[in-house]
Amino acid sequence: MPGKLLATKPIHTILAEANEEGEHSLKRALGPINLITIGIGGIIGAGIFVLTGTAAAQFAGPAIVISYMIAGIGCIFAGLCYAEFASMLPIAGSAYTYGYATMGELVAWIIGWALVLEYAFGAATVAVGWSGFVNSLLSFFGARLPFNPTPKVSLVLFGHPLAAQVDLFALTAIVVITIVLVVGVRESANFNSAAVMIKVSIVLFFIGLAAIYASAHWPQMVANWHPFIPRNTGHFGQYGWSGIMRGAGVVFFAYIGFDAVSTAAQEARNPQKDMPFGILGSLIVCTTLYIFVAGLLTGIKPYITLNVPAPVADGAAAIGVRWGVILIDLGAIAGLASVMLVMLLGQSRVLFTMSRDGLLWPWVGRIHPRFRTPYITSIVVGVFAAMLAALFPITLLGELVSLGTLLAFTIVSLGVWVLRVRHPDLPRPFRTPLVPLVPICGMVVSLALMLSLDAPAWIGFGSWLIFGLVIYFTYSRKHSKVQQLAAHGDD
Ligand code: ALA
Repeated sequence: MPGKLLATKPIHTILAEANEEGEHSLKRALGPINLITIGIGGIIGAGIFVLTGTAAAQFAGPAIVISYMIAGIGCIFAGLCYAEFASMLPIAGSAYTYGYATMGELVAWIIGWALVLEYAFGAATVAVGWSGFVNSLLSFFGARLPFNPTPKVSLVLFGHPLAAQVDLFALTAIVVITIVLVVGVRESANFNSAAVMIKVSIVLFFIGLAAIYASAHWPQMVANWHPFIPRNTGHFGQYGWSGIMRGAGVVFFAYIGFDAVSTAAQEARNPQKDMPFGILGSLIVCTTLYIFVAGLLTGIKPYITLNVPAPVADGAAAIGVRWGVILIDLGAIAGLASVMLVMLLGQSRVLFTMSRDGLLWPWVGRIHPRFRTPYITSIVVGVFAAMLAALFPITLLGELVSLGTLLAFTIVSLGVWVLRVRHPDLPRPFRTPLVPLVPICGMVVSLALMLSLDAPAWIGFGSWLIFGLVIYFTYSRKHSKVQQLAAHGDD
């Protein structure tokens, strides 16, 4: 019966599940500071440390600052919608559950499946970047390893021999982080807080250093900022306003992660108040830091020279502070570790909720009686992400992450509006302002950014969704608790 594909999950059931306690439920251990650090932990990573330079050099010039503002404002529209949902329905499923409550099971399944692209593929993408920074630090010190960290392996896939490169650093990073995640949410939050402290201090260090340099070399800074918006070359996306938009599409990756705060809603002590604080607070802090870093970096070095693997570290070198390069590499290593942690945490929580709804196998939702974490799914996700990181190129992974995330943002924005119309009287501890204007802006920006991505990423995205639909129609639909309840209702 196709009508049942649109069956929604009743709000009172979601609220009852959010309030469950006991050894088979998640532990409410996180306060407001933990939540904002989870947000910052998920956000600051490869994007600011790498993409700022490459996007300025290739697409936007010094106007990369405007690209950061546009992407940041787009994320704030989506963030306001996430904040309303996460405070109203504080459950680990995040966008998946919001879709279930508003647009029905099939849409919910598609978002849950797309979130695997955001979180598991996201962790894998960042692991590859992390490995690059570790390699660069080792070579900075002239260290020689007794083994090759990226050996080649031969695989046979459907009868075709394939040569692949296994990235052992990326693999090790994911294994270590998976162990921390299994041991406990509080331990994971502590690991994250330490990493966030290091990376934010180092970003502030760069801003301080660059500001001192700017005050002493103001004419040079001003010269590098001219022309602020370089003239378009005649090709769409190469400088000019189209370049600014393309730059915004690229640096959008730098903002991904704030939404992962909402997957910790079931582990927050006071989600009604602290969810909006964590989501919006982390977004505002990071947007501000990004604009300063991008502005100062393009003043220190001509934008055309920034298409390098570590542009921010190169900025410190241009200032003449050699040890600053080491510090920035260390900041990136700590920063990217916390991004991986937050992404893998989010992934296991979404899958846990899908399993509790009967859409995935029961073992996915099993909680460790002592650690109170979804340990089996954390381990399986870790192995999956490690395999992706070890075997796939970073560019394809990165674009798939953006597509999956943007689909979730679109549905969450639409969902806020739908729920306002269907259930106007539900208690909303946080209300998105200017509904439907803000949700419409959230959808338009997300769809526009999705359309700016390349064809190979869309092919990968389509194949991933088809694979997901096969699982849905062969397993999930038959085991869905909402479908079973609806069938009893029909009797
Ligand atoms: N926002 C995260 C990063 O830039 C995904 O690494």
